[in-house]
Amino acid sequence: MRVAVLASGRGSNLQALIDSSEMEGAPFKLSAVISDKKDSLALKRACKHGLKGYFLNPKDYCCREDFDSALAQLIKRKNIDLICLAGFMRILSSEFIACFSHSIINIHPSLLPSFPGLEAQKQALDYGVKYTGCTVHFVDEGVDTGPVIDQRVVPIYDNDTVESLSSRILKEEHVLYPRVVKGIARGLVEINGRKVIFHKGGS
Ligand code: GAR
Repeated sequence: MRVAVLASGRGSNLQALIDSSEMEGAPFKLSAVISDKKDSLALKRACKHGLKGYFLNPKDYCCREDFDSALAQLIKRKNIDLICLAGFMRILSSEFIACFSHSIINIHPSLLPSFPGLEAQKQALDYGVKYTGCTVHFVDEGVDTGPVIDQRVVPIYDNDTVESLSSRILKEEHVLYPRVVKGIARGLVEINGRKVIFHKGGS
């Protein structure tokens, strides 16, 4: 399975996917790393591992639809089967999402549907919940509203800060994301409307 990772920043989830793809018998290959930030650590990580990195400059396009159309062309040219958003800080147009229906997944640092959008870890702390976590979900037209594929739970401690909680969640993200991508590559993920069955027995 040919995977493209879209990332804007640090790229630690990209790194987890790179590491997993480099393991013997990995069922997927990272065929493109695409960023909207020229100097992103994500592109540097791709380069370090000999992966094709692409910078699409939003300033070169008159509107979101134009940017997304260039992105779609690049993804089609690379024969990508699965698009993984990993800290990609742009909202994708409905045309783009429709074009790659059920082939775009995202990782989010909360147990969705709780705390969608920005600063999910701060939202969880401010609300006072005792458990949060991370979610990988299919992307639909809403903000973090698509069908949930899998989640991992992280406890919140009384002395947690946004930083301490974020780093604890991030560790779980790095386990969850490669696991889901491998599951999809092995045909273990079945979508039935809003419900997703992840046949983990075979993973
Ligand atoms: C991750 O925590 C990811 O869950 C979050 O951005 C971070 C990217 O880190 N994504 C979102 O909040 C999306 N709504 P990374 O660049 O080190 O992978």
